[in-house]
Amino acid sequence: MPAHSTIGGISYSEKGEGEAVLFIGGDAPALIDAFAGGFRAIALDIAAGDSVAQVRRLLDELAITSTNLVGHGSGGEAVLAVAAALPHRVRRIALVEAVPDHDAATPILCPALIVTGKALGPEADALARGLQRGRSAIAGPGDIRSLLGSFLTERLSGFDNRELRSAFGSFMTGVTIVTTAGVDGQPRGFTANSFTSVSLEPPLLMICIGKQAASMEVFRNARGFAVNILSEAQKDVSVLFASKRPDKFEAAAWRAGPFGNPLIEGSAAWFDCARYQVIDAGDHIILMGHVEAFSYSDANPLGYARGHYITLGLEQAAVNAASSASRTVVGAILENDNRLVLLPDATRPSGLVLPEVGRHGHSGSASQLHELLQREGMDATLGFLFAVFENPGTREQCIYYRGEALLHARGRMVLADFEDIPWDRLPDEATCSMLRRYAAERKIGRFKVYSGDHRQGTVKAVD
Ligand SMILES: Cc1cc2nc3c(=O)[nH]c(=O)nc-3n(C[C@H](O)[C@H](O)[C@H](O)COP(=O)(O)O)c2cc1C
Repeated sequence: MPAHSTIGGISYSEKGEGEAVLFIGGDAPALIDAFAGGFRAIALDIAAGDSVAQVRRLLDELAITSTNLVGHGSGGEAVLAVAAALPHRVRRIALVEAVPDHDAATPILCPALIVTGKALGPEADALARGLQRGRSAIAGPGDIRSLLGSFLTERLSGFDNRELRSAFGSFMTGVTIVTTAGVDGQPRGFTANSFTSVSLEPPLLMICIGKQAASMEVFRNARGFAVNILSEAQKDVSVLFASKRPDKFEAAAWRAGPFGNPLIEGSAAWFDCARYQVIDAGDHIILMGHVEAFSYSDANPLGYARGHYITLGLEQAAVNAASSASRTVVGAILENDNRLVLLPDATRPSGLVLPEVGRHGHSGSASQLHELLQREGMDATLGFLFAVFENPGTREQCIYYRGEALLHARGRMVLADFEDIPWDRLPDEATCSMLRRYAAERKIGRFKVYSGDHRQGTVKAVD
């Protein structure tokens, strides 16, 4: 049986758990029994007066940040009014046998379903057209529950979420670990790249945490949190805090900050914050913090884009090398369908080279490399640096990227299996040793960046 309650003169009954659905008007109490299996179903007995104020009060009292609304008959008007007045608290609206007047000047952006019998069909169609994401359906009494059921479980956006995530991921960011001392004295933390500085006066910053994160409730209620901006040596810490391991803080070096939140040792910067505001935002919450103390070093920050870590220091080293060396070769190790892309070497009969520019004559550049690839019938994304070294034989500074090639024309390229690279047809030992490392690293799926000369240098892990 649903539990009947009254809050500040508002009476309602509720049953079930999950996403909230608020039924207003008509046969609301019977509907909550039908929907309690998958939802937190609430029937509101709306009183005369300001319906928006009553719904807002009920949502606040029940700590519901956002809800679905179903208005039956006379409840339809209240549902439209609430959706217009409190858009960020309404996920979807459904109107059953209700076609209230709608003022087009107050747009309603959430998905809306209007279910009526035949007689009201034309009016329902007209209302649906006036709503940004509205649609109408004609249903017999027996169909209403199943129509509502599928509407309430539909995805809110019509997008493919993986595609949307990839598009968002094109924005290059740093990487942070967000920590809190928690309410129970147990430190909690997670990796986040949703960090944004917000304001200098007062000093504010924000991050977003997913509602599915194990530590979300702790962060939502904490008196503050710290943001640690990772340096390029801290990729392992990022991986650790992006995991579900219960012992994250045993595995990391940290100390308590001036405001009490954990600071990760070796970070490029940290901000210890008091809770300023918590904002509900779809499947995340936004934590806004008031900076109480901060510090930074000159360590290079770790970067992140399109699901990969980026080390700024090495990219910079490549740029510096390119601008200071006498001559620069810019090349690429490209794969097409798991095979290595090679081109005929114009200077040696049956010789092969990596796609590269600058070996003969003037220094090469990334844009010349792109032009060469186009001419040879390829499109390539040169996302990541693979090696920067000086070739002692030629004194050339060599910069190689790695990436994927799309072949759009039958060109002169030769595609070689990694198990069967034609070593004896390659130009020099520097190319061979770089390709041997590439072939070994691609097997385990972790690429490193080499910088130095062709024999000695440092290899830094990035992937
Ligand atoms: C580079 C990177 C950035 C991330 N950014 C965020 C973020 O901004 N917000 C978020 O909620 N999760 C983010 N994650 C995922 C969380 O770190 C991950 O879900 C973590 O398991 C949450 O910890 P918890 O479940 O123990 O609370 C990110 C992960 C990585 C690797």
